[in-house]
Amino acid sequence: MFSLLVLGALLGSALASPLITPVGPMDLFKRISSGCSTSGPASCHNRTTQSNLCCFESPGGLLLQTQFWDTNPSTGPSNSWTIHGLWPDHCDLTYSENCDSTRDYTNISGLLTAQGASSTLSYMQTYWVDINGQNEQFWEHEWATHGTCYSTLEPSCLPNGSPTGAEAVAFFQTVVKLFQTLPTYTWLSSQGITPSTSATYTYSTLASALKTASGYTPALNCDGSTLDAISWYFNIKGSVIDGTFVAIDAPQSGSCPTSGISYPPKSGSATTTGGGPTGGSLPSKGTIKAIESSGSTVGGLLSAGTWSTQTLATYTFTGTTSSFTMTTSKGNCGVSSGTFSCGSGVSASTFSAVTSGSNLLVAYSGSTAFTSDAVPSGSVQETVYTGSSHAQDYTPVIVGS
Ligand SMILES: *[C@@H]1O[C@H](CO)[C@@H](O)[C@H](O)[C@H]1NC(C)=O
Ligand SMILES: *[C@@H]1O[C@H](CO)[C@@H](O)[C@H](O)[C@H]1NC(C)=O
Repeated sequence: MFSLLVLGALLGSALASPLITPVGPMDLFKRISSGCSTSGPASCHNRTTQSNLCCFESPGGLLLQTQFWDTNPSTGPSNSWTIHGLWPDHCDLTYSENCDSTRDYTNISGLLTAQGASSTLSYMQTYWVDINGQNEQFWEHEWATHGTCYSTLEPSCLPNGSPTGAEAVAFFQTVVKLFQTLPTYTWLSSQGITPSTSATYTYSTLASALKTASGYTPALNCDGSTLDAISWYFNIKGSVIDGTFVAIDAPQSGSCPTSGISYPPKSGSATTTGGGPTGGSLPSKGTIKAIESSGSTVGGLLSAGTWSTQTLATYTFTGTTSSFTMTTSKGNCGVSSGTFSCGSGVSASTFSAVTSGSNLLVAYSGSTAFTSDAVPSGSVQETVYTGSSHAQDYTPVIVGS
């Protein structure tokens, strides 16, 4: 499979100008590719000045995927939270808004339809809805207020010949794709928390239920003591067009009180299957290959969790992309003092998987960076370390079987 990640990584280093690449059948004709690598530092985690802000989000590198739980009046399906937006806060929690009024586009529906994103538009009509029914104005507001502030969505970052507004189309596609991996309703109900007219919760009960289900703590916002919004926080590697979102714990708690929080039901109907956010799909079994920052695949992981070019081991994945454990024929896989291994005495660690193009990347503690001392060849097996502390960087990619 020739992936977008590989394409992006290969071309990002070789060519200055990005490309337009065709993707899956859901998109009517094409989706922009940024040409940016996703193997550099995550936003807000650079240790040196980044000069190419088309491929490094700055200053808005702290991203919030904000969601609503609207009950008065109710909006959206009764069994799903809805999209508010994707906001680029600065790394120090300050923020910019309304960054370029020359790009305050109107007729977002027309823009999405004209540029081949009708499937994104129809998803938005169910899950990105305004409390007063003014969806078009709401989308225009989210784009103008927040979307125009992304450095990686500047028109000069787009492929040559892109139509006007292509960066806004990419923004809406990215927000929808990210929201689909953040099923707040399902995560709460998996922990026994469903909307109720009588129950109340403490902040820590709600936050820790969501941390258990998703792997990360969001910020919770209330109208008085009624839960009505949530923010899931991220940094990003590469461009908002097609980069890798790296989940992080919320750097601040939201506006809800510490106790007495209600989570009332919505009126209206539940969604039918298939539409709502699912948390992405994790195969139950597969192999893990290693993609180097050059874009080449070099072998992958064996049953002890080492990196090698020998026949790859079968890994069993349990959980969701947001939070899962892995085992091989040798035993549990885990990380201890920065070293990854699988074996009978290993206690299982929790991993997450992030989507990048058509790849599912393994992340530990929110980072997709893994390293070894050298590139293996022949029968050599290299120890796998989490983080970037050893000489050879690569990203482990799950290939379902
Ligand atoms: C990270 O990159 C941004 C953009 O170039 C820069 O403003 C910031 O100072 C950098 N941070 C560090 C710690 O070098
Ligand atoms: C919105 O855009 C579409 C597609 O470009 C166009 O056909 C339609 O006339 C526009 N509507 C308005 C109200 O401008």
